Amino acid sequence: MRLLPEQEQVPELLVGRETSDDAGVYQLTDSIALIQTIDYFTPVVDDPYMFGQIAAANALSDVYAMGGKPTTVLNMVGYPVKKLGGEMLAEILRGGNDKVKEAGAVLVGGHSIDDQEPKYGLSVTGIVHPNKFWKNVGAKPGEVLVLTKPIGVGILTTGIKRGAVTQEQEKVVTETMAMLNKRAAEVLSDFTPSAVTDVTGFGLLGHGSEMASGSNVTLVIHYHKVPILDGTLQLAKDGVVPGGSKSNHKWLEKDVDYRDIPLEEQLILCDAITSGGLLISINAEDAEKYVQALKEAGQDSWIIGEVIEKQEKLITVKR
Ligand code: CO
Ligand code: CO
Repeated sequence: MRLLPEQEQVPELLVGRETSDDAGVYQLTDSIALIQTIDYFTPVVDDPYMFGQIAAANALSDVYAMGGKPTTVLNMVGYPVKKLGGEMLAEILRGGNDKVKEAGAVLVGGHSIDDQEPKYGLSVTGIVHPNKFWKNVGAKPGEVLVLTKPIGVGILTTGIKRGAVTQEQEKVVTETMAMLNKRAAEVLSDFTPSAVTDVTGFGLLGHGSEMASGSNVTLVIHYHKVPILDGTLQLAKDGVVPGGSKSNHKWLEKDVDYRDIPLEEQLILCDAITSGGLLISINAEDAEKYVQALKEAGQDSWIIGEVIEKQEKLITVKR
């Protein structure tokens, strides 16, 4: 069912809704385009300060995925203040604002409503040069794929709720989600990637399939090269997989050739992620340089596959 009316075409609109890109881009002047995005969700971790950081890092990420700089943000809050009191909410907002400051953006307002279940996120505005933003499409055969954060986040956070992860695993996944994509994007701006997106709710293969379909290419993902958080595989084998990841796996079935990859590893590749890393298509030589430069800046990234001419399926997974 079509939920939204068709995209209205105006000349200033550089990126609209057609390719499910990370944010809208609207040209203001010859040198400035506006980037706009909004994202919010229910708590993914118990610690309210960490939840605030994660929700903000996730919302800011869509501006980084477009190659932009976040400028101003608005808080979006749903909260049962009579039931839970204000203290926890203050911690959520403090966490969010700390990430906004780290991003170099400024909180200018927001809106809150009384809600049964807590919800928090941001509407983020950023800026970018109208000729220099990155779309989630445009990947070319011969390029390679780089990923800037490990996956397994949805499975591990479900594991936390079921008391099935170690303290160390919980710490690592929480820090992974709270990390901004700022550095990954800033280092990438020294290169010219063909396509960039961030890996979130549709999982690595879901966002990869959008990149493949909009670019008219096929992506080859090498399972053993994909960084996966410690503990993820065991949880997946034990059946600790969130509903969102299972539905990603289901709707991607016709688009992915999994070869001999077992079901639990397929589910990991489809795992719904909160605040994931950037997925980048870029020429092989620059990919090596980028991974090195990002490492020197203090962050790991991984070359996980390549782009080939369009095949029958949008994605092929190899060992
Ligand atoms: Co996104
Ligand atoms: Co988003």
